[in-house]
Amino acid sequence: MNQMTKISGLGDAASKFVSKKQKLLIDGQWVDAASGETFDAIDPASEQVICQLASGGKADVDKAVTAARRAFENEWAQVRPVQRERLLLKLADLIEQNAEEFAQLESLDNGKLVFFARVVDVAGTVDFLRYMAGWATKISGHTLDVSCGMPGEEYQAFTLRQPVGVVGQIIPWNFPLVMAAWKLGPALATGCTVVLKPAEQTSLTAIRLGELIMEAGYPAGVVNIITGFGKTAGAAIVEHPDIDKIAFTGSTATGKWIGRTAIDTMKRVSLELGGKSPVIIAGDVAIDEAVAGAAGAIFFNSGQVCTAGSRLYVQKNIYDKVVEGLAAAASSIQLGAGLDPASQLGPLVSQAQLERVLGFIEKGKAEGGKVAAGGVRMGNQGYFVQPTVFTDCDANNTVVKEEIFGPVVVATPFDELDDILKVANDTTYGLAASIWSRDVSVAHKLARRLRAGTVWVNTHNIVDPNLPFGGFKQSGIGRENGAAAIDLYTESKTVLMKL
Ligand code: NAI
Ligand code: MG
Repeated sequence: MNQMTKISGLGDAASKFVSKKQKLLIDGQWVDAASGETFDAIDPASEQVICQLASGGKADVDKAVTAARRAFENEWAQVRPVQRERLLLKLADLIEQNAEEFAQLESLDNGKLVFFARVVDVAGTVDFLRYMAGWATKISGHTLDVSCGMPGEEYQAFTLRQPVGVVGQIIPWNFPLVMAAWKLGPALATGCTVVLKPAEQTSLTAIRLGELIMEAGYPAGVVNIITGFGKTAGAAIVEHPDIDKIAFTGSTATGKWIGRTAIDTMKRVSLELGGKSPVIIAGDVAIDEAVAGAAGAIFFNSGQVCTAGSRLYVQKNIYDKVVEGLAAAASSIQLGAGLDPASQLGPLVSQAQLERVLGFIEKGKAEGGKVAAGGVRMGNQGYFVQPTVFTDCDANNTVVKEEIFGPVVVATPFDELDDILKVANDTTYGLAASIWSRDVSVAHKLARRLRAGTVWVNTHNIVDPNLPFGGFKQSGIGRENGAAAIDLYTESKTVLMKL
């Protein structure tokens, strides 16, 4: 079937890619699932089937892990750090050469605007892989002075940092390519091998990435890609006894199950989970800056961002004007397919996510929240939800407490900056927060006291490859990116020699 070649905005390369039946990458070969089962890739703007994906299961994961283990101990172990660096740089170059195809595939599959797919997802992926390439040659242990042994004995002690081994990586659907890069980059820089499972809603760019990984010259088995569902392919990865580490980004509920299950075989675990991030706007901020900041914090990527600024706290003197401006901005946003250049915001990723978000909106209304903008689905084709602003909610309301993962923000006024800290920290999550103020002292004080893995000042949702990223509290365990990512993918070994 060639139906997607007619999609407007989809170029030749992307059309060609989606015209084929997709496969799994196991040990350097593209193969069907052992079960022969497939499932649909869906365009969330039209609800049309894009192409067929292989539905991987336990048998496929077993083969992939066997290949990854062999590659880890043999072919990949022979590859020197400088060659690992070159391979990552080559991969980044190949993605850059195919950037427009990646951006279109990401937009089609996830629904996000193709403009953002270009400048955020694809460009960010290329930068990230180049950054991680540099780490391959900069991994080091320490020499340490020791006092052990009997008087008169001499010792030499040092540590080595060695790759953790075979890594299972399970990623979500909101930034599919970026998430694959954040996982693969440090694994490949440190000398690990990988079994990667993309989200079932968005597998296309991971498969295309797999093609370029082979083209770049990675040995067979270093990267294996198993498309499929969480309960089958995902669970088989988490439960596999020969996987050394799991890296997961996704929901807190799934993250908790993964953490509990992984400990049975003592896998190392890094978890990047949900959030309910506060945006705190002080009364000294200009109205237009406050409105643009608040809108960007929640509506970017249709609110499907783990750090989305979903709780908005505005100081009383400017609260009414900011809410008025935000509601006007929300109402004026043009919803449409990500590939349509006229669109300002895309659909949600899936039918399930649409229902989830609409369910939260109904709950917000039922619990007494007032809707200042949006609050409904747009049309009846495609998973579009009107950008929504709630006011007059109580701190215990569901929409204030739970992660919605859609374009829905709850605005609440506050009197004093001293009071807002307790309110902002009153959440089981701790992924991110932003503070908007011209008062440097206010910004520093709040930045220290907010219980969150990232605190932004006068900005929101900005990440950088060199900056550690991860959550306090139930937002996760561990820090990705930067030097922290190298620690996540290596074991420390102590060597003690009696001289
Ligand atoms: P999810 O956490 O279930 O899915 C994320 C990934 O985990 C997917 O690849 C999925 O196949 C896999 N997975 C699911 N169950 C698994 C299992 N038992 N074992 C191994 N892998 C498993 O999230 P879902 O259902 O797609 O979205 C539900 C909610 O999760 C969203 O509404 C949002 O609140 C949150 N979420 C948060 C993300 C973040 O970046 N923090 C990303 C995606 C979702
Ligand atoms: Mg899709």
